[in-house]
Amino acid sequence: MRYFTELKTAELSSYATPFYYYDLKLLDDTLDAINDAIDGTNFKVHYAIKANANDEILSRVKAKGLGIDCVSGNEVRKAIDSGFLAKNISFAGVGKTDEEIAYGLDHDIFTFNVESLAELKVIDELAKEKQKVAGIAIRLNPNVNAKTHHYITTGLEENKFGINAWELPELFEMLPTLKKLSLKGIHFHIGSQINDLTVFKSLCNRVNDFQKQFKERGIALDHVNVGGGLGVNYTNPDEESIPDFNSFFQVFKDFLVVEPGQEVHFELGRSVVAQCGSLISKVLYIKEGIKTNFAIIDAGMTELIRPALYQSYHKIENISATSKENSKKYDVVGPICESSDCFGKAISLPETKRGDLIAIRSTGAYGEVMSSFYNLREKAKAFYSES
Ligand code: LLP
Repeated sequence: MRYFTELKTAELSSYATPFYYYDLKLLDDTLDAINDAIDGTNFKVHYAIKANANDEILSRVKAKGLGIDCVSGNEVRKAIDSGFLAKNISFAGVGKTDEEIAYGLDHDIFTFNVESLAELKVIDELAKEKQKVAGIAIRLNPNVNAKTHHYITTGLEENKFGINAWELPELFEMLPTLKKLSLKGIHFHIGSQINDLTVFKSLCNRVNDFQKQFKERGIALDHVNVGGGLGVNYTNPDEESIPDFNSFFQVFKDFLVVEPGQEVHFELGRSVVAQCGSLISKVLYIKEGIKTNFAIIDAGMTELIRPALYQSYHKIENISATSKENSKKYDVVGPICESSDCFGKAISLPETKRGDLIAIRSTGAYGEVMSSFYNLREKAKAFYSES
């Protein structure tokens, strides 16, 4: 209850809706919690910039010393333009273009996290042309079930990500022939919004198996990158404003076998920024339907696509209401011409009227950054609170 809910509705009502509202104090505290949890370890956290590339957020992340994990050339460019050091930038993605690889080579980024044998050859050739040596990590598909929504599951053999276990013999044959690649580590990322920590234990076991195979061939790895994926509490954001990073990292302390001097890298996105953001919107109309009341708000799937795309739950609050009495059920919907433009069905809200402010909570991750211009909508602005 210390964070967002204490904010003054009066202040919020002075901004044009819809807008994203970020609690930067909560972000700072979250980053501090991460740094405290890894203090004294050989763990290093890269922030997954895909979760939110807002300038203010990036500057806080940079100030707290995290690196950056990217999945497109423009994300690499954004990280460099925002002042992150190239040596702290890794670049994953199954479909890197030649131009994107060239950009990363020109800036000597830390690693290309390579997702196929074909990509290895292309990076080697492009590095040769530039007379450079490319730092790489091999992204491996561990075939571990993340037990999350199937759209955000990435570590199963049926998924397009990473090099599969059966390709390892060919990989080991190829590696010595690729003279312009410097192998620095192995990389895994099995999915997102993972709340069952035993999933990460299964990941550790698979990583240990893979590590063994590299070791047996005398291949030294400076680091093991275990990706991101830690989930957040969307149901009760105020009860868990800061995810339990200690328990998360403890799983890796307990179950990951690390070689002397080896670093363990993490790529956290959602757990860093989800809880610090809310989408604030105004009620335009209340409309009585046959079975339900609609609260039609001025934010739509163009500002927040997660409910439409993943049927995801976000807590919805009427922050103008002064009393919680007379609560009614509403389908909270946006103005976009799609029936999936719905933020929640049968949501209990205090009696709601035109002009009330609605907060859609836990939208700091994969909210603003996934917005679109459909229906020729304009990009929502962002505002910030410092305390
Ligand atoms: N590393 C890689 C290679 C990734 O692909 C991702 C996320 C992450 C790290 C960060 O994962 P996180 O810690 O945020 O779970 N748009 C979806 C989520 C897609 C995640 C894509 N990859 C959503 O709104 O739920």
